[in-house]
Amino acid sequence: MEGIQIRPLNKKDRGWLKQFMVDAWGAEKVVSRGIVHEAWLLPGFTASIGGDLAGIVTYNIQDDQCEIVTLDSMIENSGAARANIQAVIDAARSEGCKRLWLITTNDNIHAIRYYQKRGFTIAAIHCNAIEHSRKLKPQIPHIGMEGIPIRDEIEFEMML
Ligand SMILES: CC(C)(COP(=O)(O)OP(=O)(O)OC[C@H]1O[C@@H](n2cnc3c(N)ncnc32)[C@H](O)[C@@H]1OP(=O)(O)O)[C@@H](O)C(=O)NCCC(=O)NCCS
Repeated sequence: MEGIQIRPLNKKDRGWLKQFMVDAWGAEKVVSRGIVHEAWLLPGFTASIGGDLAGIVTYNIQDDQCEIVTLDSMIENSGAARANIQAVIDAARSEGCKRLWLITTNDNIHAIRYYQKRGFTIAAIHCNAIEHSRKLKPQIPHIGMEGIPIRDEIEFEMML
């Protein structure tokens, strides 16, 4: 994508990435489907525009499935998140993955809209899953975006 530079995360990124995860997600760990991910240690990509950090994505490959664990945009509506998703699609395909999936929570209306426009479909709704996630990560707030109680995991997928 024009004007957007993508590069893989490397060991030198881990220091600032750990703090970034705390700032963005309340802790350096992210929980999905009952699994605790040390998100700052995962593979991923950064997107930059004109030398400025515009977006970060991390992912985790298990067998032939690739999960996007975190997706964040520092410069919104720039195409950075889209370019980062494309980089994960390419990486997952090259590692033989058949399915790309991710979890977002029921309060994240923007992400629910966003992923559907990017070609993801809803694969499952894991009702009340966040109650268990909170036992693993107490920093997960009870009230999320737009004042919506955070309760459910919404699983999106894209076949590769
Ligand atoms: C969800 C999130 C990553 C989306 O980031 P974003 O910066 O808005 O994403 P993009 O720039 O790729 O796309 C946003 C819009 O910009 C448009 N756009 C503008 N310029 C563009 C360009 N040059 N190239 C491509 N798309 C462009 C896209 O078409 C898109 O519009 P649409 O969604 O109406 O189709 C971001 O809102 C975010 O960081 N949210 C907080 C963290 C979060 O909730 N993450 C997801 C939960 S797992």
